[in-house]
Amino acid sequence: MTSNPFYLDCDTGIDDALALAYLLASPQADLRGIGAVSGNVSAAVGARNTLDLLELAGHAHIPVALGAHDPLAGSFGGGAPWVHGSNGIGEVELAESSVSLAPETAAEMLVRLAHEHPGTLRVLAIGPLTNIAEALRLEPSLPQLVAEITIMGGAALAPGNLTPVAEANIANDPEAAALVLSAGWNVTLVPLDVTMTNVLEENHRQELLASSGAVPRALGEMLGYYFRFYEGIFGRACSAMHDPLAAALAVGAVSAAVAPVVHVGVDTTSGPSRGQTVCDLRGLYMDYPEQPGARCRVVLSLDGDFAPHLVETLLAFSSESPTAAITAGAAVA
Ligand code: BDR
Ligand code: CA
Repeated sequence: MTSNPFYLDCDTGIDDALALAYLLASPQADLRGIGAVSGNVSAAVGARNTLDLLELAGHAHIPVALGAHDPLAGSFGGGAPWVHGSNGIGEVELAESSVSLAPETAAEMLVRLAHEHPGTLRVLAIGPLTNIAEALRLEPSLPQLVAEITIMGGAALAPGNLTPVAEANIANDPEAAALVLSAGWNVTLVPLDVTMTNVLEENHRQELLASSGAVPRALGEMLGYYFRFYEGIFGRACSAMHDPLAAALAVGAVSAAVAPVVHVGVDTTSGPSRGQTVCDLRGLYMDYPEQPGARCRVVLSLDGDFAPHLVETLLAFSSESPTAAITAGAAVA
């Protein structure tokens, strides 16, 4: 099986933690570096969570770089503690890694990795796109160096989650998203249309909690917090799978059923649709005829059921030492 070099950009975050563990457990991905960006939590807290998760997973050698604290325009809005907890990982406390941050910014790391792996580096962006936009400014030929970029973000036909029409990763930095989506590379966009319709249920969470591995157990604990937020949306204990689904599509372990390649714009005005991804889906009634010049593959539905594959992959960590330190905080039942 071919293993491709990957750069991950994230705002760790409960579902980011799932995506990170999924990538580490995937034989198709060779994770070479991770950048943190403000989103669910500040970039600094996201970087800390990432280092601690890597330590827990036995992958502390993978470098983590601090990225942008503020979006391209404006300033960081304080994150989403009501979704991810005050520490970003559902109040679960992980043993603190002693590894330091990389001596480069996230944007610099991405540019360096693109030069080290020209034509083969895969980028997976599961937070606001500030670091990726900064990397494009540093290295305008980045789209020619990178094999492909997969982005969790946007809402094509589905409603938004931060505003009625805007998804959080795009809405937290619309200027960066506009820059990244128009940069002339092949983009796979994984929007709410597909991440809200493939959910993880309580029986899946129980499977993770019953694992002998520290990583699946920690993820199961975090998901307790996440499920409580999503209960207000779905009416039962379950959760969306935004970031791990983007990771699975990026490594090619799951495939899309409907994913037209279309023009996508981002609303950067200050009106009520700021942050909306405007996807040209007018071809819907004719099986999406080709749109000349379009480079954004918008995933609208999947082939098959994702949750069992995700759980099975995460349980691959169960061979690890069960003694690794995690403690559930007060907010986790
Ligand atoms: C996206 O926003 C963040 O809260 C999640 O981690 C995910 O990347 C979902 O809208
Ligand atoms: Ca995220």
